[in-house]
Amino acid sequence: MNNELIFESILNFVNYYNNFQNNIDSKKVFPDMNNDKISKLKEIPFASESRDINEVMQEMQNLVYSNQAYMQHPRCFAFIPSPVSLLSWAGEIMTSAFNPHGGSWLQSPSASCIESKIIEWMCKLAGYPDTSGGLFVSGGSMANLTALTTARNVKLAEDEYPKGIAYVSDQTHSSVAKGLKIIGFREDQIRKVPTNENYQLDVDSLETIICEDKAKGFIPFAVIATSGTTNTGSVDPLHSIADICDKYGLWFHVDGAYGATVLVSDKYRHLLDGISRSDSISWDAHKWLLQTYSCSTILIREKNHLISMFSTHPEYLKDAQTNNEQINYWDFGPELTRPARSLKLWLTLQTLGIDNISEGIEHSIQLVEYMENELKTYDNWEIISSAHLAILNFRYVPVNANKQQVDEFNKAISKAILDSGYVGILTTSLNGKTVLRVCSINPETTKEDIQNTIKLLVEIVKNLQNKYK
Ligand SMILES: Cc1ncc(COP(=O)(O)O)c(C=O)c1O
Repeated sequence: MNNELIFESILNFVNYYNNFQNNIDSKKVFPDMNNDKISKLKEIPFASESRDINEVMQEMQNLVYSNQAYMQHPRCFAFIPSPVSLLSWAGEIMTSAFNPHGGSWLQSPSASCIESKIIEWMCKLAGYPDTSGGLFVSGGSMANLTALTTARNVKLAEDEYPKGIAYVSDQTHSSVAKGLKIIGFREDQIRKVPTNENYQLDVDSLETIICEDKAKGFIPFAVIATSGTTNTGSVDPLHSIADICDKYGLWFHVDGAYGATVLVSDKYRHLLDGISRSDSISWDAHKWLLQTYSCSTILIREKNHLISMFSTHPEYLKDAQTNNEQINYWDFGPELTRPARSLKLWLTLQTLGIDNISEGIEHSIQLVEYMENELKTYDNWEIISSAHLAILNFRYVPVNANKQQVDEFNKAISKAILDSGYVGILTTSLNGKTVLRVCSINPETTKEDIQNTIKLLVEIVKNLQNKYK
């Protein structure tokens, strides 16, 4: 293979992407996903002869990258969007070029040093002590899994596993239950504690259920709180949960995959008060910290717990053994070979500066509050959960419509707005109601984007009402 040709093609691709990025505003957030493209892809054989790289790259541009939702679009308000800094993208390219092995100090001391510096910075923001630590993992699901595995190891003897009980809320992300299942807990070992009117875990119910479980001979071992729930951006009452965990000797995990990034903002850090009392925190950088997938972290109050859980010493790794200062990250988590996920975040933090990032977070929180206030000025739009950590849920309630009709109407609004391509808004369900959910965390999103979105929503409602007359 001709290396020069590959470099040249990559430079062409960079131009192509530069052009895409400069024009992203005019792109559909969810382009019309094209089945023809899928059929064409399926038809491409594995070539026994070599092919021209430009031809293959062109094919990938036409059939793959053009046939996806643009989660980095400034008007992508669906799921948890992924506003990616070009710096993260650049860091990803640089890192995969040199491909440092992130598992051991022997193989990549500088990348390991950067990983521990960033983890230390995050732990400080969370208010953790010097004994804390953590590592980068692929995403929030893996971060939760890593924390739960550690919690089980610390809090339960092996013969107690079948009686262990973990407590979540009815708003906890599904990755927590999935993680518990992966490490061997049955569904009936997970208690779903109800939430209050602000979709926060109800602490009185939590304590009642823990006491009932203890009385029945079960062994409560972990409470999973959320700082920034996926549906509503709610933060569970962290101090009160910490009190309960202290009282009953339970592991206190905070799923901050979405919301922990708010710790970067001096202005809004207080919203996560009490997080410093947790035993572990999941914190995704590929959500609100502007990183490409996969870039997440798990922070642990006592880093030795990670080592007790995950460290192994086979003979073929002996030469890489280190002292305390020189971390072998393969001893901290499930992965042995692992990419140096921290480097793209390092490039972003260093180049952008913390103040810029913090301003972006504050901008998003305030923009969604602005959207709520604007929506309130229109008739028949109902706020279902107020703007919190840049997430808002609302719906349109047509006059005289019954529950099912309201649900259907809002689904139709979401579909119409998605079809328009201008903005991506999907639905979720809150207390049995189908609602429109906006999660807006892209620092590039403007007030005008929000104003135009509301105008479009109003216009769609008008059209739908004409249709249903
Ligand atoms: C609160 C919360 N936890 C965990 C996850 C899972 O994260 P990931 O998709 O990175 O695995 C998400 C994803 O949206 C989330 O919102």
